[in-house]
Amino acid sequence: MFKALSLTDSGIKAARCHEAIAGKKVMARGAFSAVFDNGSTVHKLTLDKYAYMLGTDQVIGCSSRHFTQVLHNYGDVGEVDGEPVYLFECEKLEKLPKAGPLRALARRVCRQATTHASNHIRFHRQHEGLALAIQELSMDESLPETLQEGFADLHKFASNVEEGWGLDLHTANLMVRPSDSTLVISDPLADVKTRDALMIQRYKRNLH
Ligand SMILES: Nc1ncnc2c1ncn2[C@@H]1O[C@H](COP(=O)(O)OP(=O)(O)O)[C@@H](O)[C@H]1O
Ligand SMILES: [Mg+2]
Repeated sequence: MFKALSLTDSGIKAARCHEAIAGKKVMARGAFSAVFDNGSTVHKLTLDKYAYMLGTDQVIGCSSRHFTQVLHNYGDVGEVDGEPVYLFECEKLEKLPKAGPLRALARRVCRQATTHASNHIRFHRQHEGLALAIQELSMDESLPETLQEGFADLHKFASNVEEGWGLDLHTANLMVRPSDSTLVISDPLADVKTRDALMIQRYKRNLH
């Protein structure tokens, strides 16, 4: 899979000199982000502007208990091919357990999201269809009420940000808050617009 964030990119190497993460170990990676261990918290360096806004925007961001709690926002700390790189500190979460009720709940959410999305995008523009899929999760009475509220928050966010995101609900993007076993919607949207722009830049560079 194409990794928008490459640890060998000069822009990422420069961003890693930021005093908050200089010399720190990468503890996890995704397509857009690198996560740095900071003891009881983590630092997240990301090219995904939706992940950044979701966690940090004071007006449309999602701050209820089913989302990652952000502790410090360092903002835009660098650039890769003209795209900003963001850094924030947030609570440290754990992966879902391999089995049990939390994994079952997460799997149900992901399955429902996929079903709703494929139904809605047949009849609506892509973003409208995906936003409707999120809205359906907010009205799904088989989900705990606080999780429905979480998806209502996410629907508000998705309806307010500019287009360019895709729905990315799979089990690696749902995590657990270890203190009380809350299911956390860690990385629900992906910045497909930035990913595509970076993919084209890298492809062009490799032609020369
Ligand atoms: N708050 C966190 N605490 C601990 N690990 C995390 C946290 N957020 C993400 N991770 C780990 O980092 C990986 C990549 O993060 P993610 O937010 O999914 O970024 P991406 O947009 O690159 O997929 C996740 O799969 C997870 O293993
Ligand atoms: Mg992810």
